[in-house]
Amino acid sequence: MSAHWRAGLVLIVLLALGGLLTAGRWLPETTTDSALAPADAMRVSVMNCRECHAAVWQEWETSFHSRAFTDPNVQAAFRHFGHDRQCESCHASQPILHDLAAPVALRAESRDTGVDCLVCHQLPDGSMAARHTVPTAPCRPVATAALTQSLHCGRCHTAIHKDSQEGTLASSDKNCQSCHMPAVASRPGGRSHLCLGGHDEATVKSGVTLATRREGDKIFVTVANPTTGHNFPGERHNRVLLVQIIERTKDDEVTLAQQRTIKAMTPFRGETSTEQIRAGESFVAEFPVVAPAVKAEIKLLYKLFPYLSDREAQVVHQVELVLP
Ligand code: HEC
Ligand code: HEC
Ligand code: HEC
Ligand code: HEC
Ligand code: HEC
Repeated sequence: MSAHWRAGLVLIVLLALGGLLTAGRWLPETTTDSALAPADAMRVSVMNCRECHAAVWQEWETSFHSRAFTDPNVQAAFRHFGHDRQCESCHASQPILHDLAAPVALRAESRDTGVDCLVCHQLPDGSMAARHTVPTAPCRPVATAALTQSLHCGRCHTAIHKDSQEGTLASSDKNCQSCHMPAVASRPGGRSHLCLGGHDEATVKSGVTLATRREGDKIFVTVANPTTGHNFPGERHNRVLLVQIIERTKDDEVTLAQQRTIKAMTPFRGETSTEQIRAGESFVAEFPVVAPAVKAEIKLLYKLFPYLSDREAQVVHQVELVLP
């Protein structure tokens, strides 16, 4: 794909985000400089956490939370919006537990650490939200129910939280943390801070299934989202999901090469999330069997960003069908 075309596509995605910005659906209330002040005054160096929690630090450092502000794709989007602070709010926010009712707001300094330890753990009095109260620990961990609930993640992951509540998650005993922060065997009581998602191939693969069925001169391909508890793909603006089929003769000549888009980028104002596969639901594509094909290769393709070519896509699942 040429650089020009690529830039054009990036722009379309940015405009998509812009549509949301103007529609105000994705954004917290306006923040002002005075709103930035009190929480920032509480900010201690997040580097302190590293000294005593090296293993957690290492996981977090590898995660996309640590680069939620510095990531090149995110920065490119921010530049497009003139570094609008509403836009940047969730990507480098003040500690969200300081005020459970207020929208997540941008912090004034050290934004480069993105969604860091203090953002998720610091309480209004400077102590640390934790599963257990540990009176002897220097960082003052205090048992805090909010930390272990889905809404803690949902303060920023507003769309995924909303569709998970409409999906199967509301009535299940799982929450965001149970899937995205599983127990870590090497640390008793430890929870993974890797928060794996769309950038991790194995996690994507685990969230979706591909099944094929032949009926006469038709092939039905079913892509299902049985277990995530929220829409697949989770992120609704950039991710792209395609089904590709190639039928060949015994001499390897192609008789059919088709692609069906399940989810494209969603650039329009007032869009719905119908292109994502909802929790517990599936997408079915129908293709003809074109004689004299003897085999069909079916692939489920996933792209993080729409400007990536099909060749750069992750092949999530692949099936070879013999056509008798
Ligand atoms: C001087 C060492 C030290 C520093 C610095 C420190 N901690 Fe701790 N922290 C501990 C100890 C000791 C414990 C209790 C044992 C444990 O859980 O590892 C603890 C426990 C915790 C717990 C878990 C309590 C539980 O079991 O649920 C959290 C959460 C936590 N710290 C967060 C932080 C954060 C965030 C920072 C940085 C702002 C930080 N700590 C800085 C020593 C430290
Ligand atoms: C309400 C919080 C919030 C606001 C406001 C917000 N974002 Fe995000 N952004 C997120 C979250 C959370 C993700 C991770 C994916 C998800 O949960 O949908 C994300 C993901 C992204 C990504 C994709 C990153 C990747 O690696 O795939 C880009 C780019 C991005 N945001 C840019 C923007 C821009 C530009 C704006 C302003 C129009 C904006 N964000 C406003 C929370 C927010
Ligand atoms: C302060 C806002 C904020 C909070 C709170 C938050 N996140 Fe995120 N999260 C983000 C942003 C922003 C991104 C996108 C980072 C990027 O791709 O650059 C993200 C990305 C992710 C990803 C995607 C990683 C990938 O591979 O694409 C997962 C999974 C995730 N968060 C899970 C969680 C869970 C679970 C919680 C609750 C324990 C949580 N987040 C709390 C802002 C937040
Ligand atoms: C996206 C939010 C988020 C970020 C960022 C985050 N944590 Fe946590 N952390 C949690 C949640 C949620 C739990 C509790 C999970 C549970 O027990 O259900 C937790 C648990 C912990 C624990 C106790 C369990 C364990 O694994 O030892 C420690 C210690 C801790 N965090 C330290 C840190 C440190 C240090 C950082 C920065 C490197 C950090 N956290 C960043 C959300 C976060
Ligand atoms: C039953 C397990 C499960 C639960 C519960 C769950 N997720 Fe996921 N999540 C997944 C799987 C699997 C994926 C990878 C497939 C995908 O991208 O949708 C994923 C993907 C994600 C992504 C990355 C999306 C992207 O396109 O990069 C984010 C962000 C996320 N989840 C946040 C959350 C939040 C927030 C909650 C709670 C409201 C939650 N998840 C609950 C399994 C789960």
